[in-house]
Amino acid sequence: MSEPQSDALVFFGATGDLAYKKIFPALQAMLKRGHLDVPVIGVASAGWSLDQFRDRAQDSLEKHGDLDPSAFKKLAALLRYVDGDYGDPATFRALRRELANAQRPAHYLAIPPALFGMVVEQLAKAECTNGASVIVEKPFGHDLKSARELNTILLGTFDEKRIFRIDHYLGKGPVHKMLYFRFANAFLEPIWNRNHVESVQITMAEDFGIQGRGAFYDATGTTRDVVQNHLFQVLTNLTMEPPVRTDSESIRDEKVKVLKAIPTLDEKSILRGQFRGYRNEPDVAPNSTVETFAALRLSINSWRWQGVPFYIRAGKCLPVTCTEVFVRLRRPPTVYKATNDVPNHVRFRISPDVTIAIGMMVLSPAYDFVGLPAELVASRNPRTGEMDAYERVLGDAMHGDATLFAREDYVEEAWRIVDPVLAANTPVYEYDAGTWGPPEVHALLPPGDWHNPTEADAVPERIKT
Ligand code: BG6
Repeated sequence: MSEPQSDALVFFGATGDLAYKKIFPALQAMLKRGHLDVPVIGVASAGWSLDQFRDRAQDSLEKHGDLDPSAFKKLAALLRYVDGDYGDPATFRALRRELANAQRPAHYLAIPPALFGMVVEQLAKAECTNGASVIVEKPFGHDLKSARELNTILLGTFDEKRIFRIDHYLGKGPVHKMLYFRFANAFLEPIWNRNHVESVQITMAEDFGIQGRGAFYDATGTTRDVVQNHLFQVLTNLTMEPPVRTDSESIRDEKVKVLKAIPTLDEKSILRGQFRGYRNEPDVAPNSTVETFAALRLSINSWRWQGVPFYIRAGKCLPVTCTEVFVRLRRPPTVYKATNDVPNHVRFRISPDVTIAIGMMVLSPAYDFVGLPAELVASRNPRTGEMDAYERVLGDAMHGDATLFAREDYVEEAWRIVDPVLAANTPVYEYDAGTWGPPEVHALLPPGDWHNPTEADAVPERIKT
């Protein structure tokens, strides 16, 4: 059930990169939709004034948003700024003054997790936590141990229902469209199990590198950056049982159950790669063994999925930018023996466009017993006009709706699955930018090979709006 709306948004790390690229555009969008009319208090230690902070917001919207002069005027009027060190009680006394009569502030920690403990402690001491909620950015910890420590810190001050762990992938419309498609259609459910599904692939390909984020990336790597969080969220939406109700906990219960059924990974279930040139990137160690590509194989030991292999692949500097799920069905028994037969599939494309398609075989028009693979496209849409993921998750957190956030047990289960392979430091194989990862990835070959999404699937001109 939703809580009353937050009456102030405090964001730590307000002068940082995330605020600049994502948060200010999300705030303007919320305001334009009439979803934001409370003070927005930035906190940082940049030595800035309120005017400099407003200038930064304007600059952010010019570069990363769509500056709307009248909306920005209203946003600028809501902005406040507190400058100071996160270890200094005076910073939090100043914040307390800015909060004035706010009863239910939302504290958004867009800062490194190493600072969470200090900030939460200072917030509590300065009496800024009564009635408050806390929103935290991913990655939530570095491994199972650190995630547990962070949970202990946050739960020492906030109730679980007031903690919102962001995974912006959950705010993406297409991730929900997938769930809706599964549960709103009668024909899919009977085949959505080990009797009919042969294997599942989830690919998150990006055709760009680390974009100046060397320090962050070299301490993180692909598995921590996008697999343990974003792609596990896609996986659980794809495989969870129908929730008994649509409230946040019923949905999150089902997602946790999927993770609980996944055996902890071992060294043979991961293959890591690094694009050539990565070690020359600024702030990357010259002998770094951090992966920019990872392929994993895992299983779900549940009644529905036991025995079905799941493959997850993600990487930087791959040939395309696209996130796609490819579910391959078992072959039917052979009656007609046409050449070219390939198994049927269900394809969900999450980005750049949203596509839901079903692959099947038809006989070629020449009636010469040559099978032709065909796809029935249920829906294919550009993502224009869609609410941005950050706008959605920030709005939901301020409304107290936890559905799109990772719960304590969920994040800990997700780390439990990948923890041993993160610690194992398996070999990292080099690959050329613009390829589908290192050739060694064939050691983890899905049945029928990897399905590589192509640009050809992009939205046709005629339906681009
Ligand atoms: C972020 C990762 O969480 O997600 C990035 O840190 C990645 O490395 C990004 O590029 C992908 O998300 P989106 O929404 O840009 O596709």
